[in-house]
Amino acid sequence: MRSPLHILHFLSLVSALWPQPISYEHGSVVLFIKKDVQFYWYEAGARNVGSVADQHPDQQPFTFASNSNTGPNAQETLKLRKRYTESSFDDVNDWDVEEGVSGHDIIDYAIKSSWRTLFRWNLYPWKFHPRNWDEPSPQDQTTGVSEIHIRLLHADPSNVAKPLAGEVDESYILKLDEGGKATISANSSVGIARGLTSFTQLFYKHSDEKHVYTPYAPVTIHDAPKFQHRGINLDVSRNWFTVADIKRQVDALAYNKMNRFHLHVTDSQSWPLEIPALPELAAKGAYRPDLVYTPRDLKHIQRYAAIQGVEMITELDMPGHTSSIFYSQPELIAAFNIQPNWDTYCAEPPCGTLKLNSSAVDAFLDTLFDDLLPRISPYSSYFHTGGDEVNKNAYNLDDTVKSNDSAVLQPLMQKFVDRNHDRVRAAGLTPVVWEEMLLEWNVTLGSDVIVQSWQSDEAVASIVEKGYKALVGNYNYWYLDCGKGQWLDIDPSISAQQYPYYDYCAPFHNWRLAYSVDPYAGVPAENQHLVIGGEAHMWNEQTDPVNVDRMIWPRGSAVAEVLWSGPKDAEGRNRSQIDASPRLSEMRERLVLLGVGAEPIQMPYCTMDGMQCQLGYTGN
Ligand SMILES: *[C@@H]1O[C@H](CO)[C@@H](O)[C@H](O)[C@H]1NC(C)=O
Ligand SMILES: *[C@@H]1O[C@H](CO)[C@@H](O)[C@H](O)[C@H]1NC(C)=O
Ligand SMILES: *[C@@H]1O[C@H](CO)[C@@H](O)[C@H](O)[C@H]1NC(C)=O
Ligand SMILES: *[C@@H]1O[C@H](CO)[C@@H](O)[C@H](O)[C@H]1NC(C)=O
Ligand SMILES: *[C@@H]1O[C@H](CO)[C@@H](O)[C@H](O)[C@H]1NC(C)=O
Repeated sequence: MRSPLHILHFLSLVSALWPQPISYEHGSVVLFIKKDVQFYWYEAGARNVGSVADQHPDQQPFTFASNSNTGPNAQETLKLRKRYTESSFDDVNDWDVEEGVSGHDIIDYAIKSSWRTLFRWNLYPWKFHPRNWDEPSPQDQTTGVSEIHIRLLHADPSNVAKPLAGEVDESYILKLDEGGKATISANSSVGIARGLTSFTQLFYKHSDEKHVYTPYAPVTIHDAPKFQHRGINLDVSRNWFTVADIKRQVDALAYNKMNRFHLHVTDSQSWPLEIPALPELAAKGAYRPDLVYTPRDLKHIQRYAAIQGVEMITELDMPGHTSSIFYSQPELIAAFNIQPNWDTYCAEPPCGTLKLNSSAVDAFLDTLFDDLLPRISPYSSYFHTGGDEVNKNAYNLDDTVKSNDSAVLQPLMQKFVDRNHDRVRAAGLTPVVWEEMLLEWNVTLGSDVIVQSWQSDEAVASIVEKGYKALVGNYNYWYLDCGKGQWLDIDPSISAQQYPYYDYCAPFHNWRLAYSVDPYAGVPAENQHLVIGGEAHMWNEQTDPVNVDRMIWPRGSAVAEVLWSGPKDAEGRNRSQIDASPRLSEMRERLVLLGVGAEPIQMPYCTMDGMQCQLGYTGN
């Protein structure tokens, strides 16, 4: 019989990486790393002594021949672009003032933030070892990690920071030899950033608070994402979030190797997005005139995401979910705030929808999109025009339509969506819509459009069956708001029938449930290429900056691993919670150290003692 202690020892050595790479081989040699570790950044192509290298005239470019074992680019000559020393890691570039984000910005940011993660907010891993464990001793070190070679194997495409799905290769190869030399190779800057993220997860802080080491040398990692679109959707209309609250979520999602950040920025409850051409929109539509995102804020958030290889997708949900426009332009909105029987006219109060046959609405949307889209296009290839939960009865009260008949409404909706998508395309962007536009309203969409599903696995199957690219995010698994109970106050007259006040999508979806999702569920093999990824959704009726971190994390991490690593392990089996849980616990600790208030998923007792907290373990 296998000794349980043997199992414990084994498990305590295999944690670290989240999400799980395609392949990860490692030894058990301890290597310390010092703050003066040198980062060398090499890149392919023409001799390039661009602006970054120019700032360091003492460091002349020199050539670096690739090793034959690092892929098909063996013959390619890489040239040194920049060498980083300890003093480089804290100079904050003026990345926030320029327009657009380049691959060089991404690598520079990734190197600096990885250095800070390694040396400022690293993890003392006591929760992952038994009591009285043998912590590596800094006295024993003979060699350490001395050099980190960053090897960008190909020149980046110009849209590296705002690709369409699949246009940027995020794969990387990470090697760390016993002699202390680390190499991260990738075909794109984003791949380098992903590799550096993995690199930081190999290291721990010593309890002396001074030393940092990895117990895993030598290491070889080959990695690439399974799905092209891996994101979180954050609703910042139902509750107000500061720019810092939003950036914290971006940091967390980048650390989980997610690459899309969907900002559901407006809704019926508030319009916090400032539109200079329509100044009253936010001045009156926001909860408070000062609770707004200025153009500068919007740019800052988009840049902050893009520089971490995360493309922001801004959503203006319409024609439903728009009542907040009423505060500035009442003539554009039908069925505003019908009470008390709001549920005939909308999914949640306040009701209100953009009128569907109104030239005033059309002119308003021209102005709105003309103002906003040119500020999106430097940072994203997408724009989300919404389209969920449109209530037909609201158009009985729309003086431009006065009907809830599908035969009347459908052609108007087609025109409404066509005009919006023409505006989006004219700005060089690709439209994203909620599934109802296609599946309930039968709107004919351009073949470029991505359809975001939320209601069922069957909806995903129908979207791809019709030939459209689909995003998954079934509310039964990936809605992070569910299970908190009703936010509506139930009248005593119906209290008994509503008892015990569950919300519509209860119960709470725990990480194990989120983790068990197969994005291909019910999709025939020949259509699976159209399932390009998915998003977990944070709707915020009952979430604000106080609890948002723990509402999203680490459940968002479970979603991130499904989308990066795929729902099946290397043997084609469903991923095991027994494998995932210590790694997810460690990811949670690392997120906390990065400033994200992620929830614990277990007691230290479970992670310290390996196999004590399993149920039904069969030994494989
Ligand atoms: C880079 O691209 C090549 C050729 O397409 C591919 O074989 C390799 O896996 C990619 N990734 C890395 C990290 O080299
Ligand atoms: C839409 O508006 C136009 C012009 O105001 C009107 O002629 C037309 O009948 C309206 N369509 C519907 C379906 O009400
Ligand atoms: C359409 O509106 C009429 C008139 O208000 C109403 O009686 C009917 O139930 C509505 N149809 C639907 C499907 O809600
Ligand atoms: C869309 O098509 C379905 C099936 O033909 C139909 O039941 C539904 O009423 C249509 N929706 C609209 C808004 O026309
Ligand atoms: C694997 O997970 C799926 C859900 O994605 C579930 O339906 C199926 O039963 C699981 N298979 C096994 C063998 O547990």
